[in-house]
Amino acid sequence: MEPPKMSPVVEPLSWMLGTWLSEPPGAGTFPTLQPFRYLEEAHISHVGQPMLNFSFNAFHPDTHKPMHRECGFIRLEPDTNKVAFVSAQNTGIVEVEEGEVNGQELCIASHSIARISFAKEPHVEQITRKFRLNSEGKLEQTVSMATTTQPLTQHLHVTYKKV
Ligand code: HEM
Repeated sequence: MEPPKMSPVVEPLSWMLGTWLSEPPGAGTFPTLQPFRYLEEAHISHVGQPMLNFSFNAFHPDTHKPMHRECGFIRLEPDTNKVAFVSAQNTGIVEVEEGEVNGQELCIASHSIARISFAKEPHVEQITRKFRLNSEGKLEQTVSMATTTQPLTQHLHVTYKKV
């Protein structure tokens, strides 16, 4: 079967498409945590619909044990640079982020976050993300969060190489 033709609606985000692997390993930080490293595979694709599909799967750098996982969709408002990012995470949260794409940079911030009733504390109250394609053709993701105990602070930074 022929690969589906990309919808022109998602063209402004076409720089995100592909299978990407963290290189070097991602860096995790937060005031309440010991700094940590992680591996992550990001798969960003389309099936011809006016949206992208994504999955981000993190693994322990030594044992390769699965860690954080999330998947969802990235939508663009046609004829604008407005972007909506919808993600379901294995930690029991589902979030909607909104923002803008400008060139090869996407900045989004949480619009709503839902969680399961028995989610671990502290709860996430706000999330911001920045994706960009850097001058070396690598994809970068930076995630910051505010929790019930900490103000908005960086939690993750990862650079991915296309595989
Ligand atoms: C801890 C949220 C992605 C690894 C935490 C905590 C929160 C959180 C609320 C607890 C912080 C505290 O105790 O003060 C999130 C959110 C993510 C995300 C909202 C995505 C938007 C990731 C990813 C990794 C990761 C991709 C990669 C492995 C960890 C680790 C801890 C942690 C190792 C500490 C141990 C633990 O609580 O499991 N995260 N996280 N997180 N996160 Fe994330």
